[in-house]
Amino acid sequence: MIPPDWSSRSSRRRTVCPNPWRRRAPTSTPGLSISTVDRRGFSSPPSRRYTAMAPSIDPQQFRDVLGHYPTGVSVITALSAAGEPMAMVVGTFTSVSLDPPLVAFLPNRTSTSFARLKDASRFAVNILAHDQEELVRRLARSDPRKMDDENWRLSPAGNPVLDGVVAVIECDLSSVAEAGDHYIVIGAVTDLYTERPTVPLLFFRGGYGEFAPKSFVVTEGRGMSGAVTQAQVLRSPVEQAAGELGGELTLFGRVAGDSVALATAAAPGGSQITPLGTRYPIAPPIGAQYVAWADAREQDSWIDKAIGATRDEIASYRRHLEDARRWGWSVNVAPDDAAHWPAVFPEVDGSDDAVKGRHAMVTRRMAESTRGREIDSLLDDAQYQVIGFVAPIFLAEGTAPELMVRLLLYPSVRMSKDEILRKGALLKNFAVSAAEQLRDSLATASAR
Ligand SMILES: Cc1cc2nc3c(=O)[nH]c(=O)nc-3n(C[C@H](O)[C@H](O)[C@H](O)COP(=O)(O)O)c2cc1C
Repeated sequence: MIPPDWSSRSSRRRTVCPNPWRRRAPTSTPGLSISTVDRRGFSSPPSRRYTAMAPSIDPQQFRDVLGHYPTGVSVITALSAAGEPMAMVVGTFTSVSLDPPLVAFLPNRTSTSFARLKDASRFAVNILAHDQEELVRRLARSDPRKMDDENWRLSPAGNPVLDGVVAVIECDLSSVAEAGDHYIVIGAVTDLYTERPTVPLLFFRGGYGEFAPKSFVVTEGRGMSGAVTQAQVLRSPVEQAAGELGGELTLFGRVAGDSVALATAAAPGGSQITPLGTRYPIAPPIGAQYVAWADAREQDSWIDKAIGATRDEIASYRRHLEDARRWGWSVNVAPDDAAHWPAVFPEVDGSDDAVKGRHAMVTRRMAESTRGREIDSLLDDAQYQVIGFVAPIFLAEGTAPELMVRLLLYPSVRMSKDEILRKGALLKNFAVSAAEQLRDSLATASAR
């Protein structure tokens, strides 16, 4: 197996084959050679050898095609005979067998890191978290002392365990088989545990990313292309305004009955909460900004979607619509019991399951952040725990907005009425200038 291109996108641009572990391909017989080898000597003859006719597959095409398959990112760690920590980043870690419990990873035969690791009788697989990209960059080097500056502890089994990883699988080294220019290393699992139930780091097509549950992700080709193009135009204004307004700024577009996150940016040092593609159904209390300028029938059908709503709630949704029209922005205020949300997500979210935790967080945030507060009802001497603001973006006069912008304050901020009015007006200003930029860009595009 030739694993995908592990180099980052930027370095890949510099050279076609920038990574030493790929460049130094061994000159072994073409075809597949599988031999279980003695883990210390690597000298046993192959137990079985398959030498297929080597088909002419272009290596670059092989990498390009297999690069469509994402991997997780793990660090294999072990102690040397001298007690020094050793590490190697792999994207090829996989589970193999439940009974007996076996896992595997595939080091390149030229890897100097693996040349050191192979002498250890046991190792640990450290599964990296979504926020450990920098750690990968530091550890994906040949330097034998690369663990010197890292934070780790020794597990009871005697393996280095890196701080902040998602999970650890401790193994005895069971066998090493040759497979083309790589080895297949099998580990017999001796212990395994979750360290931090958060979303893991993923590697795909030369870049790093993280998992977002599918139900919140918009795939291409679902009426998105126009909206995404509009979002691209506003990408840098959104980034700049996020800093100025001091929160996460997200541009939403109306796509097939949903409000979809098209571009999002957090203020420097702030939390990025909303994954791109997050999709909220336009039903009360969500989407007043889109519906407030529509005709009475569309407003009624929006309110009809509030199945099970009480008379009071329906009256309040109607007031939200009036408010949106009157002020050109709305504010969302936390109910008292939600004033102190957990500072970190999703591990403190009450769920052991990272994906469920993230779902829960996004869903709860959606519900909490849409408790609109009528602006006219704000009291001069009161303080409010403000979660965010929303404002519509009008592309053409006299038509209902197809875009809106949301400022999410995380954690929520205590504000007086005056402060709320000022911040709301600033967001509205952003929405007006965003609309102007979009109109200009559409005019330029149609003049071409
Ligand atoms: C995300 C990522 C995944 C990698 N996966 C593997 C792998 O599965 N097998 C491998 O031999 N090298 C892999 N590498 C490369 C090695 O971690 C490391 O960069 C390289 O081996 C350094 O050279 P050395 O092994 O000679 O020390 C990966 C690198 C990165 C960044």
